[in-house]
Amino acid sequence: MNASPLYDRIEREIASRKNSSLFRQIPCFGCSNDIIDLSTNSYLNLHDSSDVRDEAQRLSEGKQSGNLASRIVAQYSPLFDEIESEIASWKNTETALVFNSGYATNCGIIQGLCTRDTEVFSDRLNHASIYDGIRLSGCKLTRYKHIDMKDLETKCSSSASKEKVIITDSVFSMDGDRAPLSDIVTIAKKNHCIIMIDEAHAAGILGEHIGGLADETGVGDEIDIIMGTMSKALAGCGGYVAVSHILRDYFVNTCRSLIYSTALPHATLAHNLAAIRYIRSHPQMGSNLLAVADTFRTSCRSDYFTTGNSTTQIIPVITGDEKRALALKTYLCKNRVHAPAIRPPTVPAGTSRVRLSLHSGLSRSDIEHILNILNEWNGFDA
Ligand SMILES: Cc1ncc(COP(=O)(O)O)c(C=O)c1O
Repeated sequence: MNASPLYDRIEREIASRKNSSLFRQIPCFGCSNDIIDLSTNSYLNLHDSSDVRDEAQRLSEGKQSGNLASRIVAQYSPLFDEIESEIASWKNTETALVFNSGYATNCGIIQGLCTRDTEVFSDRLNHASIYDGIRLSGCKLTRYKHIDMKDLETKCSSSASKEKVIITDSVFSMDGDRAPLSDIVTIAKKNHCIIMIDEAHAAGILGEHIGGLADETGVGDEIDIIMGTMSKALAGCGGYVAVSHILRDYFVNTCRSLIYSTALPHATLAHNLAAIRYIRSHPQMGSNLLAVADTFRTSCRSDYFTTGNSTTQIIPVITGDEKRALALKTYLCKNRVHAPAIRPPTVPAGTSRVRLSLHSGLSRSDIEHILNILNEWNGFDA
């Protein structure tokens, strides 16, 4: 290692994170089958579905497994066209465009769409990938208080910017609450704003066609950009936007994460397509999971935490203090339950939590076990 002040800073930062219970590590799970996993975003358990696997294998048959280059320069898998048509039909939009991940979608779309002349109104608790896209674009950022429509309205109506975009997660990844989409649509119309929503945690779960919150709320036609990822309920990899033809053309020409990155391989697309087709033919899976989450929340009672404003399969167990969140995570782990402790900067200071994500792979006895140990926690013991 070269001597450099940069290494000194790195050492200081690591020590400071360790001292304040904010040091992150990639967990090692070993190979126990006995652990109940509440850390997964595979909400419908499709990573373990033989139906999806068999269909993905059929779609992959005789195709190359490797990859060539960016879609802009090389011949790409024909599954791109199929999956984009499937997404557009699912979301009821003119067309769709697939990216390499949800992160690459948000960064690429916002960087491509916004310039220094654009003002973005962003819910304070939006996902980090939205904030990274905003930074990349160099646009003016105005954060509004979490799901506070008065604050959004005040900020939008007093803005002198010509180009305005409202961006919100539809279901918030660390809180499991829903954005008030109908109100956002009203505010956007009044103030001539474009709307972009991130359906990462809602697609596959909410709505009659399990299309997400736009589907559930019936406002899909009023949303300009519906973004989603294939890494959550679909248990795949990749992101997408469902949009009009003109926006798709624009994004193909401007999104650097699409233009300057090698496209997804055929095998990944095959899983994604199989999973979308599967959930579209099993729409009751979403409402079944929501019903389990409702019962779970009402049975989850303690003096040492709250479950916040969750109304979905994501249930935060908010302890406030970082040390307490780590103690709860360790206590759960000792009792065969794996769930991550989420601390600042991922969530605001004072709102540390253990994030439980319920999923269709949990049995009734798993749920009872989790509730029993949670409700027995004394607030401190690790
Ligand atoms: C709300 C939200 N948007 C985007 C992403 C990024 O998606 P991906 O994991 O596919 O990169 C995530 C993932 O954590 C997310 O929670």
